[in-house]
Amino acid sequence: MPIETHFPLAVYFEDLPEAQAQKAGLLAAIWDLKAGGAAPRHFPEMAWTGDLHGVEQVHLDPRFDWVVAQVEANVLRYLTELGIDLGQVDLYIQRAWPVVSLAGQEVGVHCHNTSHISAVYYVSVPNSGSDESGCLIFFDNSRPNEVSPGLGSENTNIIASWNELNQDQAIYEPLEGRLIVFPSKRQHAVSVNHTDLERVSLSFDIVVTAKPGQAAGSYEFLTPPPGQWRRFAMA
Ligand SMILES: [Fe+2]
Repeated sequence: MPIETHFPLAVYFEDLPEAQAQKAGLLAAIWDLKAGGAAPRHFPEMAWTGDLHGVEQVHLDPRFDWVVAQVEANVLRYLTELGIDLGQVDLYIQRAWPVVSLAGQEVGVHCHNTSHISAVYYVSVPNSGSDESGCLIFFDNSRPNEVSPGLGSENTNIIASWNELNQDQAIYEPLEGRLIVFPSKRQHAVSVNHTDLERVSLSFDIVVTAKPGQAAGSYEFLTPPPGQWRRFAMA
């Protein structure tokens, strides 16, 4: 009774060999930026995210040059694996920010609406390789095997056993020094940090555009090169 599955979500990962050597410098820069960020505007049960506190441009900060270079190299490998012709596109890091999750904190369900590709680098993970400091959770809103809409709702209890054919989420345990890459539109969250130590990561949002001078038709589907845009003459 074979069952075939189709349409996998591609989550890329690479364990960066220089991670331990870079850790202290990255953490020092993150603490410095966090201390200079905006006054807290997140709920206490939610992790501190730089993008909500004016700390969203670490990609332009030389203290993050090493990790930015890693993101660029690995995103190119990811897109190559997805079969994309890199000769036809340009890539931009649009935003990049730290995330600090203290004991008891989490990140709610969201996706990154303004970008195409997202990357996360795990700078510091207490009890690395376990689920204790909080897992990245990917959600499958398409629910391809939910034969009757709502069948899997917690109000029905009709699913007798959860398995890989009926799950609506995938749980990814963080590993210190690991870089992961996934489509920005995929809804995700981070579960609660159950340790007493902070868990620190960096998030990157990347945009794909057409290269200048592409064949007719490209700009209908890919964002045209930003260098060809004209900003309104507004005051
Ligand atoms: Fe996110």
